[in-house]
Amino acid sequence: MKKIKILLVDDNDNTRASIRQLLELDDVVDIVGEAADGNEALEKAGILEPELVLMDINMPKMDGIEATRKFSQQHPHIGVILISINDEIQNFRRAMLAGAKEYLVKPLSPEEISTAVRQVAELSRQKVAQGKSAEPDRPQPPPNDNKLITIFGTKGGVGKSVICTNLAVSAAQQHAKVAMIDLDVQFGDLSIMVNVNPRKTIAEMMQEGEKPSREMLESYLYERYGVQLLSAPNKPELAEMVVPRRVQEIFDICRQEYTYTFVDTPSFIDELSLTALEQSDLILLIITLDLPTIKNVKKGIDILKSLQLLNRARLILNRSSGIAGIEPHDIERVLDMKIKGEIPSDGKLVVSSLNQGIPFVRMNPKAPISKGIQSLLRVLE
Ligand SMILES: Nc1ncnc2c1ncn2[C@@H]1O[C@H](COP(=O)(O)OP(=O)(O)OP(=O)(O)O)[C@@H](O)[C@H]1O
Ligand SMILES: [Mg+2]
Repeated sequence: MKKIKILLVDDNDNTRASIRQLLELDDVVDIVGEAADGNEALEKAGILEPELVLMDINMPKMDGIEATRKFSQQHPHIGVILISINDEIQNFRRAMLAGAKEYLVKPLSPEEISTAVRQVAELSRQKVAQGKSAEPDRPQPPPNDNKLITIFGTKGGVGKSVICTNLAVSAAQQHAKVAMIDLDVQFGDLSIMVNVNPRKTIAEMMQEGEKPSREMLESYLYERYGVQLLSAPNKPELAEMVVPRRVQEIFDICRQEYTYTFVDTPSFIDELSLTALEQSDLILLIITLDLPTIKNVKKGIDILKSLQLLNRARLILNRSSGIAGIEPHDIERVLDMKIKGEIPSDGKLVVSSLNQGIPFVRMNPKAPISKGIQSLLRVLE
């Protein structure tokens, strides 16, 4: 089953923590965020796009009933489950009238909460599916136009992961079906960048020991900002479980299913990144304007040449507005390659986006750095 994205709302930190513990017993649950009151919940729902809201009925400022009413108006496709300490019929009626889909009474058992969450998610999904089939068909690119795109760079810290995440989220905003795979299997940080705390990663997927199917892959993906993420292992020592043959099988499924599959890689070439490079339709080679990077990227270009993959590579300049001294056209001359995209520098926005786990293209779509990412989408076509 596809993971159920839940927003947890309670004014009491301890209660939220204990409900979180209960919920996390269920593998299918993905807690996308928490809120301490109704207003915060409504605001976060717009960004985090949960399918369900699990909310306490007794909260100061705006109580759960009032918040549910607002959810029904502002986010009608999100199912609300209210939690109360009493089972008075009066409260139950008010909850249902406000639009709650389920009413649970404390103390909650793991089974009870799990059943409620699954049932309400099922209902919401049916509703969303019906809504979609009523919409006029959006033009979808034919499946053979789907692309696997590797983000590559031969120097650490040039911005591969930041670009990978924001580009994926940007593509999803343009209604593409998007997946993102973290192949930096030792130190991958895509999960942190989109605020996922994964229990199931590519390492656990390898332990299944059999050829992955679409359903199997789906159960390992976490959705954030419209992008399906397959996370890197939680511990570096699990990295060696990830084998190229299985990774290639995952790529095959992704290429069938997603308009774009973005693959993030470490700054060195290993068997896995080689597999990604060879399987890719496009390789985004990320560089910055400094001498060590340029020296390294020359080596990277030589490797791509020897693998006969250079024609799939596109040179992308990150932090283009950064250091003065070396000019983009100098780089083009030295590398004998044209720069196909430029992303300006914006330390303040990038750091604040990383700290909050919200991609900057969502935090501030109008910022020049976000525009830079959006214009990179053209390079993918
Ligand atoms: N355009 C930018 N403007 C400002 N800061 C940036 C920009 N791009 C990247 N950074 C900064 O550089 C840091 C490194 O970025 P990122 O983690 O994406 O690099 P990487 O190439 O994936 O590194 P690694 O090789 O270690 O995986 C980020 O933490 C961020 O602070
Ligand atoms: Mg990285």
